[in-house]
Amino acid sequence: MKKKGLFISFEGIDGSGKTTQVKRLGQSLRDKGYELVTVREPGGTPVAEKIRELLLDARNDGICPRTEAFLYAAARAQLVTEVINPALTEGRVVIADRYLDSTLAYQGYGRGLDTRFLEQLNRLAVAGTVPDLTIILDISPVEGMVRRSDSCPDRLEREGLQFQEAVRAGYLSLSRQYPERIKVVDAMQPPEQVYAEIVALVTPFLAQLAEAGV
Ligand SMILES: Nc1ncnc2c1ncn2[C@@H]1O[C@H](COP(=O)(O)OP(=O)(O)OP(=O)(O)O)[C@@H](O)[C@H]1O
Ligand SMILES: [Mg+2]
Repeated sequence: MKKKGLFISFEGIDGSGKTTQVKRLGQSLRDKGYELVTVREPGGTPVAEKIRELLLDARNDGICPRTEAFLYAAARAQLVTEVINPALTEGRVVIADRYLDSTLAYQGYGRGLDTRFLEQLNRLAVAGTVPDLTIILDISPVEGMVRRSDSCPDRLEREGLQFQEAVRAGYLSLSRQYPERIKVVDAMQPPEQVYAEIVALVTPFLAQLAEAGV
């Protein structure tokens, strides 16, 4: 019998609280007895971790935006095949700290690559494995920078703010294009409040999972 689990992804600009909330939700679902798999992009399999090293290595500053897009897509294809699809087939809950929409927001709206091309690249990479629910944690770029650095951004960091602003606008645009799948949570609020809104969004999906007998 083919079982299908639940796939939730978290998105948002740097420092928006994704990892914080993924950990909290993950712990809560585990405590409730759900079989859970959490993944973080790029990485999660031996090959995808090697691609991650390529992407994060500061010496690879010559990587052009198209190469970057292909490398993220390659890592994602491997993660979907090796980890996400098998987990969903077994009826597990999969929580991803970034997924498809990061490519559109960062490489598309941020770096200016053609979003139609990136949509096709994403389709090829994930071969139909699209999240049931995507939660965008929305904050201002200044807040994201302050949270990450615990101080006011300096001049150079401020240049990065324009990029983060474009990425943020991209995420919000995606939420309007895919209103059924993508929900926006105001992540300027305290963590408990953000978490409460996340639980309200996730609960109906857990109920469906229970009804499906998974
Ligand atoms: N709602 C919140 N209010 C204030 N601070 C927060 C909130 N959520 C998270 N933080 C803090 O902000 C910092 C960044 O959070 P976190 O690492 O979860 O963000 P992220 O979206 O995963 O960032 P990145 O994109 O860099 O991985 C952490 O120090 C975290 O404790
Ligand atoms: Mg993080």
